Amino acid sequence: MGGAAGQAGASGGADQAGAGQGGGAGAGGAPEPPVPATKDELFAFLKAGSYKGFAGESKVHASTGPHSNVRTYLNAPLVASLQAGSSSHPQGSAAIKELYSGNQLIGWAVDVKTAADSQNGAGWYWYEVFSTTDGSSPIISNAGPNFCSNCHKNGGSDFVLTPFPLQ
Ligand code: HEC
Repeated sequence: MGGAAGQAGASGGADQAGAGQGGGAGAGGAPEPPVPATKDELFAFLKAGSYKGFAGESKVHASTGPHSNVRTYLNAPLVASLQAGSSSHPQGSAAIKELYSGNQLIGWAVDVKTAADSQNGAGWYWYEVFSTTDGSSPIISNAGPNFCSNCHKNGGSDFVLTPFPLQ
């Protein structure tokens, strides 16, 4: 993996990486942690709120898809790629979608790009869990193609359907 792209700017301040808004909520320019693409590590990451410094939608809203009420966060590589209008996002791109019932957080849906090529969904890891305390039984935790990727491959930008710029 490497993740070198995320390492810049710890104290630079004036770096020109351009993804400036991605750092918005995060304090002090600490590099973002990579998003795990394995079940137990990912659940721990989600439960700890480790994505909360990522660029995120401003508020919870109704999904335009099947995802109930949601608030989506995108990591810096994905934000940069969407900003550049790329038709293929880099390996390590990830999105975390908080799932809500009313105002209550009830779980997460996640996609992480695990290969340079999306390969009809096989280049992405797909994950969804409906618990905030018990990660033992996600409803899905695997590479595509699967029912997630089969919808996500339609439209959007390289399997990413969230409207961008984030709202
Ligand atoms: C019927 C179509 C459909 C299916 C099936 C579906 N999604 Fe989505 N998904 C969407 C749409 C539409 C969005 C755009 C944002 C929104 O309104 O929720 C989205 C957004 C997301 C996002 C935010 C980042 C992005 O890619 O846009 C994640 C993460 C996500 N879905 C994960 C999943 C996972 C995991 C599954 C399988 C358990 C899944 N989705 C199944 C339609 C679908």
